[in-house]
Amino acid sequence: MRDRHLVVLSGAGISAESGLGTFRGSGGLWEGVSVKEVATPEAWERDPAKVLRFYNERRRDIRNAEPNEAHLALQQLEDVFKVTIITQNIDDLHERAGSSNVVHLHGEIMKARSSVDEALLFPRESDLVLGEKCPNGSQLRPHVVWFGEAVPMMDKAIAVAKTADFFIVVGTSLEVYPAASLVDYVPWESNKFLVDPQPSGLADESFHVVEATAAEGVPKIVTQLRALMA
Ligand code: APR
Repeated sequence: MRDRHLVVLSGAGISAESGLGTFRGSGGLWEGVSVKEVATPEAWERDPAKVLRFYNERRRDIRNAEPNEAHLALQQLEDVFKVTIITQNIDDLHERAGSSNVVHLHGEIMKARSSVDEALLFPRESDLVLGEKCPNGSQLRPHVVWFGEAVPMMDKAIAVAKTADFFIVVGTSLEVYPAASLVDYVPWESNKFLVDPQPSGLADESFHVVEATAAEGVPKIVTQLRALMA
């Protein structure tokens, strides 16, 4: 039955139980810093060293984190479904849990990119510093999509959402666009689930809402779905 397509839209909440902070719910601060100070092209123009420092810390935190029960359970769905994970997260915890088909809407912290050519990407596990240049001479920056920048993977994500037979939304406030609009592209007849300890209410009544943390709620849904497809 691996012809049925199961699509996941994940956000910061799925990595909360791996020890990584979410964005909202803490006064608009991300790890104590206003996103405007570090996650915009203007911040990069103003103080690139500060931006690099901030993301160096995030990269270190992520390197030291481990996938949790939610990431691991989603990987197990690959036994029975064609699975595509669309994540807003810049961490690599879905990949480290073994998921094979992950679309990163907001970039990947384990990659660096040229600051003038977004297609020039380099694997990167260590800190980035000012003065490090890409082969065409521009400063290397983290491969993350900042507020105010285009979301290059959005077209691919929309195409994926349109083909969902099953759709799981987990750990996102659905406050940030265009990512949140993906919900609108999912076929009405697909089976939809929302896992969040504080569901936003933005998903419509066609969703089965599981009011639980990701590490509790996702394995339950996965068990149900595997039984359904057995
Ligand atoms: N399990 C599941 N969900 C959780 C957990 C948990 N343990 N803890 C918190 N949550 C939920 C919150 O209730 C909230 O709905 O996760 C959601 C986190 O929302 P945000 O912090 O807004 O994160 P996200 O939706 O991923 O943000 C989207 O905004 O800052 C930008 O680019 C950044 O990708 C990010 C985007």
